[in-house]
Amino acid sequence: MAGKVFFSVTMSLDGFMAPEAVPVQYVFSPEGQNDPRTRRWLAKWSELQAWLFPQRWFRENLKLGEGGEEGVDNDIARATYERTGASVMGKRMFDGGELAWPEEAPFHTPVFVVTHTGRDPWERPGGTTFHFVNDGIDSALLQAREAAGDRDVRIAGGAETIQQYLNSGLIDEFSVTLAPVLFGTGIRLFDHMDPDRLALRQTRTDASSRVTHLTYTVEKR
Ligand SMILES: NC(=O)c1ccc[n+]([C@@H]2O[C@H](COP(=O)([O-])OP(=O)(O)OC[C@H]3O[C@@H](n4cnc5c(N)ncnc54)[C@H](OP(=O)(O)O)[C@@H]3O)[C@@H](O)[C@H]2O)c1
Repeated sequence: MAGKVFFSVTMSLDGFMAPEAVPVQYVFSPEGQNDPRTRRWLAKWSELQAWLFPQRWFRENLKLGEGGEEGVDNDIARATYERTGASVMGKRMFDGGELAWPEEAPFHTPVFVVTHTGRDPWERPGGTTFHFVNDGIDSALLQAREAAGDRDVRIAGGAETIQQYLNSGLIDEFSVTLAPVLFGTGIRLFDHMDPDRLALRQTRTDASSRVTHLTYTVEKR
């Protein structure tokens, strides 16, 4: 039986899933890291994701060492990872990750990158292989579904990619982890939505002292 298609992201209270883009080579180069724009980007990104870094599952998955927090945030992060049989992501998310992820990339499943750039598959130790898909989001999802088998397909991000899948009616459900930060500017999660086509039903809420996790199913109007 085919699994579900979902996304699960962290969002600022005012609706942003990332700070305003700065060139990725700035963020991950020693010279670039002294640039005020980069420092601001990293500070905002760290505040947004602060709930995740201390979690036991996150530390295990990135091999950061023993220990870590347990509780609702950890359970949700682990369950999200375990249900995922394959992921789809946009090229900008990949570009940042290519520089930031460790050699053993943290997916441990196939990842399909939607892009206009052709590239051979990139296999990482630990079970992650990045496949570069040049013929659109439907093709990427089809390949991801096949790779995932019974498990679910995660649309990993970023915003532009999630928006295309949402507007195409291809998302079954999603979770937003609402972080108590205000960005003011940045990359909006729900830009370019077509509200006449999509209706949401809230199916779950979980709160910790750090964040609130909101889960919805998506129905076509
Ligand atoms: N808050 C969170 O939980 C979370 C999670 C994931 C990501 N993020 C953040 O989200 C940001 C990236 O999001 P984004 O909206 O800027 O970009 P994105 O969705 O990651 O990537 C967009 C790019 O993907 C390619 N693409 C998208 N759709 C395509 C299509 N139909 N056909 C061919 N290529 C296609 C294009 O690149 P080319 O034309 O260059 O090929 C496009 O410029 C990053 O800052 C990342 O860190 C946040």
